[in-house]
Amino acid sequence: QAERLLMGARVLLTAGPTREPLDPVRYLGNRSSGRMGYALASALVNLGAQVVLVTGPTVSPLPRVSKVIQVETALEMHRAVMNEVGECAIFVATAAVADYRPMEIATHKIKKDAAELTLHLIRNPDILADVAALKAPPFTVGFAAETENLEQHARAKLTAKKLNMIAANQVGGERGGFEHDENALTVFWRDGQCGLPMMSKTQLARELADLIAEHYRGHHAT
Ligand code: PMT
Repeated sequence: QAERLLMGARVLLTAGPTREPLDPVRYLGNRSSGRMGYALASALVNLGAQVVLVTGPTVSPLPRVSKVIQVETALEMHRAVMNEVGECAIFVATAAVADYRPMEIATHKIKKDAAELTLHLIRNPDILADVAALKAPPFTVGFAAETENLEQHARAKLTAKKLNMIAANQVGGERGGFEHDENALTVFWRDGQCGLPMMSKTQLARELADLIAEHYRGHHAT
């Protein structure tokens, strides 16, 4: 097999969670260790790609890539991605981006005097959808984290966001998904799909990277 299928291709990849501050000490966030995204970044490097990683805060060891941009919030991740995407042939969105952020960030620590507290949240931009909607978008690969109806939700995201591929995983269970060492994915594209069973995220990332490379090259051959 030709191992360096992505030789020289520049890949932009998001990973990890975002943190949306509520006050100087608290935030809203998603569960993500960054492990799936980091493993995928390494697997893409092994195929010869130049990887630019935009990552939210994690405690996982960072992969060896061409460039790492560390961000905290969805707005920062959005800005970093939009700055880099023009140079990139492939975009992969592995990050667990917070869909909403607190409308206001309190200047001081919110006191726990009241028995109830109401938070007003505002929608964050959808980074993946914004990339796919560019005039000349890169080959765009999304993820879908679902707790039910995996195929239906993933296919809906593939179509609605106009993606080239989407990798769907079941989350919130005892195995796989976020914060575990292993995961399973079903990858969908317009006229096909491929199931990758439960395995280590390192191995799974290799198989997904091969699939992305194959489809990216097929896409460019047409
Ligand atoms: O980090 P780990 O612990 O290893 O866990 C890996 C993972 C479970 C986080 C990962 O495999 C995964 O599923 N990532 C996507 C998580 C997610 O937010 O999925 P979603 O179905 O809510 O979002 C769909 C897609 O839109 C994703 O590609 C997401 O990155 C993107 N998105 C979502 C919202 C937003 N505002 N901007 C985005 O770009």
